[in-house]
Amino acid sequence: MNPDLLRLHPYPFERLRELFARAPVTSELAPISLSIGEPKHSTPEFITQSLRDSLAGLAHYPSTQGSPALRGAISTWLARRFSIAPPDPDSQVLPVTGTREALFAIAQTLVDRTREAPTVVCPNPFYQIYEGAALLAGARPLYANIDTNIDANIVAKRRFAVDYSAITEEQWAQVQLVYACSPANPTGRVMDLADWRDLFALSDRHGFVIAADECYSEIYCGPQAPLGALEAAQQLGRPDYERLICFGSLSKRSNVPGLRSGFVAGDRRLLRQFLLYRTYHGCAMSPPVQAASALAWADEAHVEANRVKYRRKFAEVTPLVQNVLETQLPDAAFYLWAKTPIDDELFAQQLHAAYNVAVLPGSYLGRSHGGSNPGCGFVRLALVAEPEECLEAARRIVQFTRSL
Ligand SMILES: Cc1ncc(COP(=O)(O)O)c(C=O)c1O
Repeated sequence: MNPDLLRLHPYPFERLRELFARAPVTSELAPISLSIGEPKHSTPEFITQSLRDSLAGLAHYPSTQGSPALRGAISTWLARRFSIAPPDPDSQVLPVTGTREALFAIAQTLVDRTREAPTVVCPNPFYQIYEGAALLAGARPLYANIDTNIDANIVAKRRFAVDYSAITEEQWAQVQLVYACSPANPTGRVMDLADWRDLFALSDRHGFVIAADECYSEIYCGPQAPLGALEAAQQLGRPDYERLICFGSLSKRSNVPGLRSGFVAGDRRLLRQFLLYRTYHGCAMSPPVQAASALAWADEAHVEANRVKYRRKFAEVTPLVQNVLETQLPDAAFYLWAKTPIDDELFAQQLHAAYNVAVLPGSYLGRSHGGSNPGCGFVRLALVAEPEECLEAARRIVQFTRSL
């Protein structure tokens, strides 16, 4: 057996199940889950219709590189969405079967185990796949804590920003890959141009690759669409995206988490090796999924309608929750990241037992590093259910918190 499997941490939802099992529900209220970040709005009909229309494609093995039509649709979307020159569909774009597998696979492709102490930097708290990917690639995850100081005096822009300043020169010398998540899960923070400038400068100095996870880029509350990594690179005079790969997904954008469809785009030198890895790994996208995905990337109307639904929910739910918990409308993504008045695990457990609402303790998404787990004292509320259900959950959270 691969001994590295023993280094994997239990997935947060496994821990949540155990936490809830230790304090059974005493309430008669119907269960509401705000714990899992699974989109729940309905899949657009034109996507399901396209899948039905392309079933004949099941008779063929797909190529790992994907069809020119799909890569072209992704390139066109990237150019339109981020105001960049269209990435070359033949060398700068690859389809992936969801960003989860691609975020995992990129570490397996890039990490050089023959170098001393291979290291992968993960934001903390973070999407757990980054850590598992690092461990199974034979690397050491190094956590970069986010700034959790939500004091009103702190410049709002730095709130929840990843702080790389604790990483020493010796550690940087060993870093081969940095995961950056913007909009971030769980905080919803979006990196601005200055953040990208700093990260690119570090990458130039130390030679690591940046994996920019942007799977929430199309869910945002304000009028301004989140800045993308490729967009930032072009604005900062990096037209070839040296050492940068961005990861995009249809799961949240088009409400198709079961489709397993996304892309990677960026540095062509890295994508060539990634394609080689993927050919052996065997993760080509099914032809009907490719056809439906190409259509989905070409349409923005359903994405705008989806965003409107999220905005409405955030506008109604956030002020309610703010009555009892410190939280803010996020820049983007579909989570409220809220400070708890008691220990976050206890808060989640008691809320669940007394009011049948499931939320995720922030500490489950973080690791203790540098003397603290920056997820501690927060809970993540995924506003994925229908508006009435999210509102009902918020009312119960208010009641519960006031009862403490
Ligand atoms: C930060 C982040 N990245 C990537 C993913 C994976 O998304 P998918 O594989 O559906 O593209 C998720 C899923 O919840 C996520 O939260």
